[in-house]
Amino acid sequence: MKRSNVQLSIDGIAVEVPAGANVAAAVAQLGLRFRRSRSGEARAPLCGMGLCFECRVSIDGVAHQRACVVVARDGMQVQRDD
Ligand code: FES
Repeated sequence: MKRSNVQLSIDGIAVEVPAGANVAAAVAQLGLRFRRSRSGEARAPLCGMGLCFECRVSIDGVAHQRACVVVARDGMQVQRDD
């Protein structure tokens, strides 16, 4: 039987999203902001297709991943860029 959801962690908070959803959707589902600019302004996904880097996060210890183009996987550990 095919699984319809995957579980991952955003800043240590467990979240479940439909299989095939991207990491940006998982962050948004928790209602969390994405990164902050150097001046402290909260940023959010802009293009949704990997061009602007506004959605960048660390995934499984690898920094500067674009959350909008990475498919969520079971057990993935995501940290927002503060
Ligand atoms: S929203 Fe632009 S790269 Fe992800």
